[in-house]
Amino acid sequence: MVIAIDGPAGAGKSTVARALAERLGFTYLDSGAMYRSVALATLRAGADPDDPDAVTAIARDLDLSIAPGRVAIGPEDVSTAIRTPDVTAAASRVSVHPGVRTAMVDRQRTLVATGAWVAEGRDIGTVVCPESPLKVHLTASEDERARRRSAETGEDPEAVLAAQRDRDARDRGREHGALELAADAVELDTTGLDVAAVVERIAAIARERGLADGASS
Ligand code: DC
Repeated sequence: MVIAIDGPAGAGKSTVARALAERLGFTYLDSGAMYRSVALATLRAGADPDDPDAVTAIARDLDLSIAPGRVAIGPEDVSTAIRTPDVTAAASRVSVHPGVRTAMVDRQRTLVATGAWVAEGRDIGTVVCPESPLKVHLTASEDERARRRSAETGEDPEAVLAAQRDRDARDRGREHGALELAADAVELDTTGLDVAAVVERIAAIARERGLADGASS
């Protein structure tokens, strides 16, 4: 069973999804880390992130393991390496290719096939797990999202905003797995809200829907 948390970069998905998973005793899945790993492998191979065939082959062959708090390619822990600005920019580009998306969606579905999960991304509720009994679409104002990212990475706020607009446009405009609101999603605007309040709201909905004991079912 999967609780899906989708939304644009900087909406607070990772923090909220991680805390929610801990609160409910579910396992946390960061699907963005998977696209980031494909981007890192692409850059390391000297391949072009815009080349669909090259990147699809890399995505299919990648020896990726993902666990809460640890992402690895082969034996190497890449949890930090996938967070650089270069990888962030390349991840946005590699994730538009349909072959890459199919490869990642297949792996995500295999992972969440058993157990209870809080999975975050862009297309969890629409594509990966359309049967999810609780889909949350987290949003926040563009300025607040850029401010959060800049506080986290130390990058210049104006540069973050410009790069974020670019990535938002690609996330929303791509043909496959675009960021869109699932018809049955609960929309939550996190602007000005603290994490605890957002987690409490989602946990309350999970309880109302009888999902809060999902970890043992
Ligand atoms: O959430 P994030 O910033 O770590 O995601 C990194 C990139 O991966 C981002 O450009 C969007 C893409 N992504 C995606 O296309 N589909 C997902 N389910 C998750 C992330």
